[in-house]
Amino acid sequence: MKDLEGLLKNSAKLPSLSMVYHHIQRVVNDPDANMESIVEIIGEDPSLTVRLLRLANSSFYGFPQQVSSLSESVRLIGLKQVRDLCFGTVLIQVFRKNKIDPIFLDHFWRHNIACGITSRLIAQFTNQQNIEQFFIMGLVHDIGKLPIAMNLPDQFESILKEISTSGAPMNEVEHRQLGYDHTEVGALILSEWKMPQPLIDVVRGHHDFKKIKSGSFELSAIHVANLLVHAMEIGSSGEDIPPPFEEKAWSILGLELETLSKLCEEVDRQFLEIERIFLEP
Ligand SMILES: [Fe+2]
Ligand SMILES: [Fe+2]
Repeated sequence: MKDLEGLLKNSAKLPSLSMVYHHIQRVVNDPDANMESIVEIIGEDPSLTVRLLRLANSSFYGFPQQVSSLSESVRLIGLKQVRDLCFGTVLIQVFRKNKIDPIFLDHFWRHNIACGITSRLIAQFTNQQNIEQFFIMGLVHDIGKLPIAMNLPDQFESILKEISTSGAPMNEVEHRQLGYDHTEVGALILSEWKMPQPLIDVVRGHHDFKKIKSGSFELSAIHVANLLVHAMEIGSSGEDIPPPFEEKAWSILGLELETLSKLCEEVDRQFLEIERIFLEP
């Protein structure tokens, strides 16, 4: 058994975000930031450039016209939103370079991308601001499982085995076997990467029913998205049984029951395209 600090101190095995992302982050946080500088930085990374352009032309946005340049995509999507999308793409590439079972990793990202798309649509359907932030929250909610899978592969396998035989929630099994769970690991790794506090709070709180009940719209969106993605059977992040439904989360979102089928249809419509953009090497 290893302690949480120990898991993260093993820095040789912990991925760091690319320099390109750090530059993007700095430019966006600069009050004098302009579009040209962010376009220039993204342009240094051809894979990021292609993915952003494909996103700008995808059903994610549904812009009526073809978006043919990076500067046009940044102008249409917005600086902060582009930064968040860059974080998403960089994050997936960063964990690709590590020794995690590729089949697990593939299912994991499918689950998390679908959660991102679903929570972004929940935000869109309920007229929230900066819906890209909801995409990132869904995309990273289970990120803490990856450092565990990477650094403690035997324990991780034993956790997955216990879940499939007992049906117990993953965070409870992790606590029993490791003394901590993926929400704590996720929050720690995001703070190491100096990510914004609301994102860290969502990752830390996504299995905490007291916090979900407390009225957080973001946590409610992630909770409901997680359940919908389980019900739609898109990917898997190691849990066979979804977390119990928290009714309060549904009422906080204020979604009409009739919109649910429309929302799921839209998730289905966007998923294959977005999955390809993010997961293709
Ligand atoms: Fe989780
Ligand atoms: Fe999940």
